[in-house]
Amino acid sequence: MEYTPKTFTLPSLDGISAKSVEEHLSLYQGYVKNFNTISAKMVEYAQDSEKNAHALSELIRRRSFEFDGMRLHEIYFAQFEDGAKELDANSALGQQMEKEYRQHFTEYFKAIGNMRGPGWALLYWDKEAKQFLAGFSGEQHQGHFVTLPVILALDVWEHAYLLDHGALGKTKYIDAFFKNLNWGVIEKRFEEITK
Ligand SMILES: [Fe+2]
Repeated sequence: MEYTPKTFTLPSLDGISAKSVEEHLSLYQGYVKNFNTISAKMVEYAQDSEKNAHALSELIRRRSFEFDGMRLHEIYFAQFEDGAKELDANSALGQQMEKEYRQHFTEYFKAIGNMRGPGWALLYWDKEAKQFLAGFSGEQHQGHFVTLPVILALDVWEHAYLLDHGALGKTKYIDAFFKNLNWGVIEKRFEEITK
């Protein structure tokens, strides 16, 4: 099955320009296209897997990079739809956040986002232990907590902030990310996976 790029209804963002968003969305569409291309090539190369062994193994290695780039950007852009909304302290998410992080979640997550190197700060929910796991995925296909759903995704690749804030502007961009974040979207995700 071919994947189709999703569209997002995004408001104008504070500290993340329309031009930056436009370029970022084009990049997202590139992940979808590349995932489809690699998937088709794998089928083609598998027809003579002995001859194409090296090419095939490289495609297999790179395919999750494209898939994870596609899905994480979908999670990322959806978080800005309908405009900024603060976390509702009385929601299930707000209560769990308070239980695990007290008032320090944002500070903690910003520290993960400020780690060196391209990647993503991610918040997962572990249904089995009934707790959050926050972590950093290098690029986007490494360091995941397998089987856990992502409920919050912060892109900290340079392309997310270079245009608006320069190469040293990651901290400013992360502040802008939280300023524009619609916590209502994260609350809904949390409700969905915990019901
Ligand atoms: Fe990105």
